[in-house]
Amino acid sequence: MFLQNKNILLGVTGGIAAYKTAELVRRLKEQGANVRVVMTKGGKAFITPLTLQAVSGNPVADSLLDPAAEAAMGHIELAKWADLVLIAPASANTLARLAGGFADDLLATICLATAAPLAIAPAMNQQMWHALPTQDNMATLRKRNVIVWGPGAGEQACGDVGYGRMLEPLQLVGLAKEYFQQTAENEAKNLPLDNQHWVVTAGPTREAIDPVRYISNHSSGKMGYAIADAAAKAGAKVTIISGPVNLPTPNHCDRVNVQSAQQMHAMAMGLAPKADVFVACAAVADYRVRDVVDQKIKKSADTMQIELVKNPDIVADVAALTDRPFTVGFAAETQDVEHYAKGKLARKNLDMIAANNVALQTQGFNSDDNALTVYWPEGSKELPLTNKKALAVDLVKTIADKLMTK
Ligand code: C5P
Repeated sequence: MFLQNKNILLGVTGGIAAYKTAELVRRLKEQGANVRVVMTKGGKAFITPLTLQAVSGNPVADSLLDPAAEAAMGHIELAKWADLVLIAPASANTLARLAGGFADDLLATICLATAAPLAIAPAMNQQMWHALPTQDNMATLRKRNVIVWGPGAGEQACGDVGYGRMLEPLQLVGLAKEYFQQTAENEAKNLPLDNQHWVVTAGPTREAIDPVRYISNHSSGKMGYAIADAAAKAGAKVTIISGPVNLPTPNHCDRVNVQSAQQMHAMAMGLAPKADVFVACAAVADYRVRDVVDQKIKKSADTMQIELVKNPDIVADVAALTDRPFTVGFAAETQDVEHYAKGKLARKNLDMIAANNVALQTQGFNSDDNALTVYWPEGSKELPLTNKKALAVDLVKTIADKLMTK
């Protein structure tokens, strides 16, 4: 899930393992990554651009000096687009060109022009791998923090046995996933949240009708729990005020369980005055039943009426405290997201609001993925579609950035 929506620029260079790149592209896409392929002349001798275009769903780039290709998505644009440049297979010649800092074809030029991390999956004959010039080039690349995946050992296409096999597509996908997970976790760890207390509301509330029935909603609590987890990993002391959900408490978080909006409100008003940050991620029921009855309501008439009364607005009440924490709300909208989100930001007097479009099936309630647009009084930021855990890290970072400049 850490590959969701990541832009991977795959460089395919000359080597028999290039035939496996069609599978590699498929598996990366399966994980939600966007893949664009750049091929060298050598790469094209082993697999056709048409194949990789078909599996990646994007045109394959192979020329630095092709005016049409440059007009479509030029080398600088490709370099900027990438979250990761992965060269697989990386031939001995490619390693030499990279170590030398050449810009003599599209792929080498992109490697110089990109700010994205560069990962290589070397693949060559075992003798070529062990050759001193190759090992010198590898030492140079490692010194430059190029990420090296493989090579593996085993039988080679030429009949030799030894080191030089490109790692299998699934292994490379696993390593790419680990890489992005590690990066997200490191980013979270580097946030200056030590000594801060964050209070996060999460999940739905339940508004009782009688002893066995209630009004509620589809909130899973995943987003709030992911935010709590990310803030705790970044060193904050975190308390989750949780509606009924089926989720384990993240490590190092305190958790208080509540059922109704009124209980959540009471808990929030108790904890918020001493907190540094309050994130209202809970899907609080706007209304509760006026008269909750003690006994189960019996079936009788064809219609029945339940009178509802408005619940307190928890986040607005926290934002109205005199010594209030940095207060972040959520806006789950099905239309006109920006308009309604900005309206809520102002009306509830929030420091920040994270808006998502719950009408889209790929995100929001119960889904593992989400995308948010974050608004604050002077600006906004898009946090693109990804899994809720990675998104939570982005949101916690965004909050931390704003806190630092406050
Ligand atoms: O007004 P609306 O319910 O759309 O606002 C959503 C935001 O307000 C969320 O951050 C939610 O947690 C918070 N909220 C609240 N108390 C309520 C209703 C919503 O804290 N009673």
